[in-house]
Amino acid sequence: MAEPIRSSELPDWPEQELRGHRIEGYRYTSKEFMDLEMEHMWTKVWLLLGREAEIPNPGDWQREDVGPESILMVRQDDGSIKAFYNICQHRGNRLVSEEKGSVGRFVCKYHAWAFQRDGELVYAQDAENFPEGNPCGKVNLIEVPCDTFAGFIWVNMDPDCGSLRDYLGPIWDDWGRYEIHKWKRYEALTTVAPCNWKVVLDNFNESYHVPTVHRPRGTPEERKRMHSGVDTRYQNTRFDLSNEGHNRMIMPGGYAGATMNSEGVIGEPLASVMREWELDPMDFTNRGEETRAALQKAKREVGAKRGYTHYAKLADEMLTDAFHYTLFPNFAVSLWSDGFHFLRARPHPTDPEQCVFDNWWYHSQPEGETAPVRTTVRIVPRDTEVEHEVFEFGEKSMGRTIDQDLEIFPEQQAGFRSRGFRGVYLSAQEFRIRRYHELIDDYIEQRKP
Ligand code: FES
Ligand SMILES: [Fe+2]
Repeated sequence: MAEPIRSSELPDWPEQELRGHRIEGYRYTSKEFMDLEMEHMWTKVWLLLGREAEIPNPGDWQREDVGPESILMVRQDDGSIKAFYNICQHRGNRLVSEEKGSVGRFVCKYHAWAFQRDGELVYAQDAENFPEGNPCGKVNLIEVPCDTFAGFIWVNMDPDCGSLRDYLGPIWDDWGRYEIHKWKRYEALTTVAPCNWKVVLDNFNESYHVPTVHRPRGTPEERKRMHSGVDTRYQNTRFDLSNEGHNRMIMPGGYAGATMNSEGVIGEPLASVMREWELDPMDFTNRGEETRAALQKAKREVGAKRGYTHYAKLADEMLTDAFHYTLFPNFAVSLWSDGFHFLRARPHPTDPEQCVFDNWWYHSQPEGETAPVRTTVRIVPRDTEVEHEVFEFGEKSMGRTIDQDLEIFPEQQAGFRSRGFRGVYLSAQEFRIRRYHELIDDYIEQRKP
């Protein structure tokens, strides 16, 4: 078995022990199991919920839901961010129903109680008429721990939670190299998928499905030559699990692979990429294995001149390879030198057999760069501001690759519902699935790491 390519710059994460228990269908279909997850897991973990850039000014707010809970993230007058349950403390009405906005104060639509941006109740109709006394000064919005990292707003519904930094573990250092907080959004697609949220996460926790679900085009000979330029073979993939429950999977990329024709001449899209970095693809005819290292060197040299300041902090493999991270419990990212492909699944408010699925793309912003941005869905001009689109399942493409994944999900969900399903039978390379299911059980049984 070939050794995965590794540099000494990125240390291995610690070995983890797996218990290897059975993963059965009820975990994906049962309302009871869904409620246990909500009670003991979703409300005890740091969740990536918002984006700082969405709420730049005091009074700007963004709302995101997690199962039956709805969270408001609000920019404060001093520039900090506070998060609250989106619940009026008079009689429980949802305070806002829109996705985002900007307010002087939050006024409940039911009886007009008004809360300041910092959660304090400052007006109640007929305040003198309350036997327990004027609610102002007594009743405030319920605050939720909140922090920021990589430009995102993270929220934890556990009032006794540890720090976000401790929760993220080695992710903090890995992502800290990229200046992601400066990156801009070019794709924001959300749909309600007809499957449990773990169907989505299972999928992004393994690459065993890649050669079959994402079948590359071309002849069998071409397919063998790494169609996308990424070597997805598990033998050459580097896997890491963190103590905190996250994982990292690194696949070497930047190869000419199947772009080469029968004469060994490098084709698109790699040829253009190479020219962008001042390499002549013709110099690499029949040397497709050498493009990865050449690109790393070129990006380092040319990138420094062109304002790609984050390259100076990236390890060589971060310049070409596919870095896939899954953050416990529900967030999967493919991180490229200049792109952040954001995949997230959140539980449905009531139905274990549905989930809210997001597919977003963020791209780096080197100063002075004008080249268009290639997302998973299309090529867009760099100055395009993208609105968040929410649509019915199947109504719109989420990009070829993600559409292929989404086609499987409802079918697998149906299988989990069947009495003919006896639990998963996992390969070694699918161990990240095993690990995060064990962590869910650890949370449910209150053995949180
Ligand atoms: S429920 Fe909000 S003011 Fe009555
Ligand atoms: Fe996939």
